[in-house]
Amino acid sequence: MLAAVRTSDDHLTELASHLITAGGKRLRPVLAMVSGAVGGGDVAGVGDDVVSGGVACELVHLGSLYHDDVMDEAATRRGVETVNARWGNLQAILAGDFLLARASEIAASLGTEVAGLLARTIGWLCEGQIEELRHTYDVDRPRDSYLRSIHGKTASLYGTSARVGALVAGHSAPTVDALTAWGDAYGMLFQIVDDVLDLTSTDAELGKPAGHDMEEGVYTLPVLCTLDAGGDRADRLRDLLGGPLDDGARSEALELVRGGDGVADAVAVAEEYVVRAEGLCADLPAGPATDALAAAPAALLASVRPSAG
Ligand code: IPE
Ligand code: IPE
Ligand code: MG
Ligand code: MG
Repeated sequence: MLAAVRTSDDHLTELASHLITAGGKRLRPVLAMVSGAVGGGDVAGVGDDVVSGGVACELVHLGSLYHDDVMDEAATRRGVETVNARWGNLQAILAGDFLLARASEIAASLGTEVAGLLARTIGWLCEGQIEELRHTYDVDRPRDSYLRSIHGKTASLYGTSARVGALVAGHSAPTVDALTAWGDAYGMLFQIVDDVLDLTSTDAELGKPAGHDMEEGVYTLPVLCTLDAGGDRADRLRDLLGGPLDDGARSEALELVRGGDGVADAVAVAEEYVVRAEGLCADLPAGPATDALAAAPAALLASVRPSAG
């Protein structure tokens, strides 16, 4: 990853390496590699091209995070200061562009199909983010808008990470398609879980500020479910939302969401994606990689279950 962003300009190298050094879960390259290993043995045995495909996907993710943190005015990410907080928005935007450029260069080395897919995915990320912006501070945001937005901004890159690993490994067309669909379903689940955690966790647990989505006017599934449920709780929440929140209003809004059924309702929607992803594993060649893909969705959802009760 670090080698992929090295350039003759030391400052640009530092900007582009900032969040790589900070860490992150690296789930997208893990998915590319597990996907490449399906039908074979150990994940560590996948070819160098599969690893490069994973690096390209992680660089797209990173570039989108640099830009997302500018849009969300986020101060921390991966437990460290964001690039925008430390060096300002202009440099964060340029460094994000640079990461996308390096991702594209690597993808091009893997063939026209991978290059085209990654370019299309960057477009889907933009469509998802635009859909989110369209309904900022909109208490009547339709649930369908939410689902389309998270499909574009998050699920599509998971689908692409799985597909890139599968394509580069030379899997059969049905296996490539099943893995892509698995990535899409896991990505939907992943963003719903991220959105639940934004409302139910502490800053320290997240490595970024909790309740930030609502403060920024991004009303995610648990909030929409709370509003949909009706009654006094929904009425009060509707009164509070619709514009910027001061600290008191933000705490009250968080308590309203946490105290109602919205979180559990959102978890129930997430459960549908768990079932979908698990079902797709039946179409994959048996082996340790497929076993991991079958277990991962329920394990992820389990991370929010305690807060849902
Ligand atoms: C954050 O993704 C952006 C979302 C899609 C919610 P991750 O939670 O995978 O972030 P890192 O890569 O581990 O930092
Ligand atoms: C994910 O959305 C952003 C991208 C996929 C680029 P969020 O805004 O929810 O991500 P976090 O919560 O900042 O990580
Ligand atoms: Mg964000
Ligand atoms: Mg979030």
